[in-house]
Amino acid sequence: MAAPKVAVVGAGVVGLSTALCITETCPSCSVTVLSDQFSPNTTSDAAAGILIPHTYPGTPIHVQKQWFKETFTYLFAISNSAEASEAGVHLVSGLKATGVQIYTRKVADLWELHSEYNVVVNCTGIGARQLVGDEKLFPVRGQVLKVHAPWVKNFIRDGDGLTYIFPGIHRVTLGGTREKNNWSLAPDPGTTKDIFDRCCSLEPSLQGAQDIKVKVGLRPSRQHVTLQREVLSQGGVKLPVVHNYGHGAGGFSVHRGTAKEAARLVGECIAALQGSSSRAKL
Ligand SMILES: Cc1cc2nc3c(=O)[nH]c(=O)nc-3n(C[C@H](O)[C@H](O)[C@H](O)COP(=O)(O)OP(=O)(O)OC[C@H]3O[C@@H](n4cnc5c(N)ncnc54)[C@H](O)[C@@H]3O)c2cc1C
Ligand SMILES: *[C@@H]1O[C@H](CO)[C@@H](O)[C@H](O)[C@H]1NC(C)=O
Ligand SMILES: *[C@@H]1O[C@H](CO)[C@@H](O)[C@H](O)[C@H]1NC(C)=O
Ligand SMILES: *[C@@H]1O[C@H](CO)[C@@H](O)[C@H](O)[C@H]1NC(C)=O
Repeated sequence: MAAPKVAVVGAGVVGLSTALCITETCPSCSVTVLSDQFSPNTTSDAAAGILIPHTYPGTPIHVQKQWFKETFTYLFAISNSAEASEAGVHLVSGLKATGVQIYTRKVADLWELHSEYNVVVNCTGIGARQLVGDEKLFPVRGQVLKVHAPWVKNFIRDGDGLTYIFPGIHRVTLGGTREKNNWSLAPDPGTTKDIFDRCCSLEPSLQGAQDIKVKVGLRPSRQHVTLQREVLSQGGVKLPVVHNYGHGAGGFSVHRGTAKEAARLVGECIAALQGSSSRAKL
C-alpha cells in the first residue's frame, strides 16, 4: 500500500498532538487534519494549561500516570511552559512544517471519509457526543478570564481548585467554573464578575488588570478517555477508526501520552490493512 492516508478529525490539543505523533511514528503516512474550528476557538484555548493530574475513574491509574509522565517529559524537553492556547498555535505551525494538510471541514459522520482515507482518527472532544452519539460523554462548562497583568508572577489555586490565577507567557488566566451538563458557550456576565471578584480577593493587584477577555470551554467529560480501535463497515467496505476523545478536565496534562497511544493504534490499523492487501494480491 503506497502512503497510507490518515485523517485526524479535530484540531484541539488532542487532535493536533495526535497528528504530530502519527507523522513521527509513520513517516510514510500522508496525514490530514479536518476540523470545523481551530485555535483560538476550541476548548483547548480556554484551558489554563496547568499540568495537573486529573483522575479518570474508569482508566487504570498506572495508565494515567504513564500519560501524564509522557506529557510532562515532552513539554519539559521543549521547555514549553506555554498556555494551552499557545500550544495550539505552535502545534499548527509545527504540523504545517511537517507537511500535514489542514482543512476546515465539519464531519457529519466519520463514514463520509471512507473513500478518501485509509484510517480515520476521532479527536472531536465534546463534538463526539453528536458525531457518534456517545451518551456517556457530557460537558462540564468552564468560564475563565484571560487578562493582561504582567506583574502577576505566582500561580494561586484555592482549596477546591475552583478559583485560580495562572500566569502564562502573555496573559494571566483567572478561573473559573465547573458546570456539569451545561452546553452554553456564551460568556455569562454575572459569572465574569464573580470570577473577577474571587480572584481579586486572593490577589488584590488584579484590580488593575487590563484587556479582560472571557473564554468558555466545554470539558469533554467521561468515566474514562475513549482510546480504542473500531472498524466501521458498510456493504463489505471497511474503515478503521481510532478514537481519542473524552479528556475532561485534564486534556492538556495527558495530551502527549494519549497521542502516542493513538498513533500506535493507527500503526496497528495500517499493519492490518497492509496484511489484508498483500493477502489479496496472493
Ligand atoms: C476553563 C477550562 C480550563 C481548563 N484547564 C485545564 C488545565 O489547566 N489543564 C488541563 O490539563 N486541562 C485543562 N482543561 C481541559 C482541556 O481544555 C480539555 O481536556 C482539552 O482541551 C480537550 O481537548 P480536545 O482536543 O479533546 O478537545 P477540543 O479542544 O474541544 O477540540 C475538539 C476539536 O474537534 C473539532 N470538532 C468537533 N466536532 C467536529 C466535527 N463533527 N467535525 C469536525 N471537527 C469537529 C472542534 O472544532 C475542535 O477543533 C480545561 C478546560 C476548560 C474548559
Ligand atoms: C474564530 O471564531 C470567530 C468568530 O466566529 C471567527 O471570526 C474566526 O475567524 C475564528 N478563528 C479561526 C482561526 O477559525
Ligand atoms: C467519534 O467516536 C464516537 C464514539 O464511537 C462516535 O459516537 C462519534 O460519532 C465519532 N465522531 C465522528 C466524527 O464520527
Ligand atoms: C448554563 O450556564 C449559564 C452561564 O453560567 C447560565 O446562565 C445558564 O442558566 C445555565 N443553563 C443551565 C441549563 O444550567
